[in-house]
Amino acid sequence: MKLGRRATTTLALLGTTVLMTAVQTVSAQAHDASLRDLAKQRGIRIGTAVNVDALADDSQYASVVGDQFNSVTAENVMKWETVEPSPGTFDFAPADTLVRYAARHHQEVRGHTLLWHNQLPGWLTDGVADGSITADDLRDILHRHITAEVSHFKGKIYQWDVVNEVLNEDGTLRDSIWSQKLGDSFIADAFRWAHQADPHAKLFLNDYNIESKGAKSDAYYDLVKRLRAQGVPIDGVGFQGHLDIQYDFPSDLADNMARFDALGLATSVTEADVRIPLPADEADLTRQASDYSGMLAACLATEHCTSFTVWGFTDAYSWVPGTFEGEGAANLYDESYQPKPAYTAVADTLAKQRPGHGHHGGHRH
Ligand code: G3I
Repeated sequence: MKLGRRATTTLALLGTTVLMTAVQTVSAQAHDASLRDLAKQRGIRIGTAVNVDALADDSQYASVVGDQFNSVTAENVMKWETVEPSPGTFDFAPADTLVRYAARHHQEVRGHTLLWHNQLPGWLTDGVADGSITADDLRDILHRHITAEVSHFKGKIYQWDVVNEVLNEDGTLRDSIWSQKLGDSFIADAFRWAHQADPHAKLFLNDYNIESKGAKSDAYYDLVKRLRAQGVPIDGVGFQGHLDIQYDFPSDLADNMARFDALGLATSVTEADVRIPLPADEADLTRQASDYSGMLAACLATEHCTSFTVWGFTDAYSWVPGTFEGEGAANLYDESYQPKPAYTAVADTLAKQRPGHGHHGGHRH
């Protein structure tokens, strides 16, 4: 078809208008689209830890979980004290509630956590302390626990924090019932047993204060190299990301994640929050926003960083004030579910192109 000059000009003008509208839409997206929609474009999961009581009792809480995130982590209900309250008796009911919620909302689930020194049931810590649980017993108990829990959720959990917080700040093995009775052999065992129970789940080590290079993250680097050399099925390392605006931002985070990536491992930011000495003023919230976007940008810059999870999203339910006296306001939303500057910073960072990735990047892990 041949068009006259007038028609061509009109079409060209129309084209320009359409293009301008498209550009405006893209820049407005950072503010209008949900975090999960933006994350999808970047080939990354955006997650939150979920307080299962709040999910049941607080409809505003539940709707933000569903609207904004495409990955969820149980804040507490997959931990040992909840899952195996007495020896060999398992209670997955609260965790199942979360897994069902996630399925209904087309979300994936990160598993947290199979082995930790904290939130262990009394029967286990008491039994080790009074000698009624021997080293051999403990190894069997760990095997049984990991097998039962991973099998229960088989196919429903994309990443497990298999071993949580096992190193000290100086990089040595943390003192716990595990290290006291089993030396360091429990780490490789835990990964092998988890892999046997669900060969498709990606298996992670997870810890805090490893964002920067230093004694602790260097020790993790050596540990994963060693485990890999021994053929232990470990897939990734989780950088928890519990920051505090009183300290410097770990500006070598991307660099640090890159060296784990270079070993062929996946990485994730698993528990991001940024606490503030209260009351928080505007400058504090601006600094907090920059710390959140800095952690997310480091993850986006790392080729196989698969998810960015915040440890709760509203100041209404944060663990921080109960642990750090006089501190709080650590989350993306305030106590009344108003998005804070940190929320906008995360959305803006997700709206940017991911370095080295196409427009629709895909998950590898
Ligand atoms: O379940 C009991 C309840 O029965 C009792 O009435 C109540 C009274 O205090 O306590 C409840 O247990 C609390 C539990 O959370 C469940 O709500 C514990 O006191 C409380 O200490 C526990 O805190 C959790 C903490 O881990 C335990 O170390 C936090 O919610 C949770 O956010 C936090 O998460 C950890 C990650 O798993 C690992 N990395 C660090 C992160 C922050 O500490």
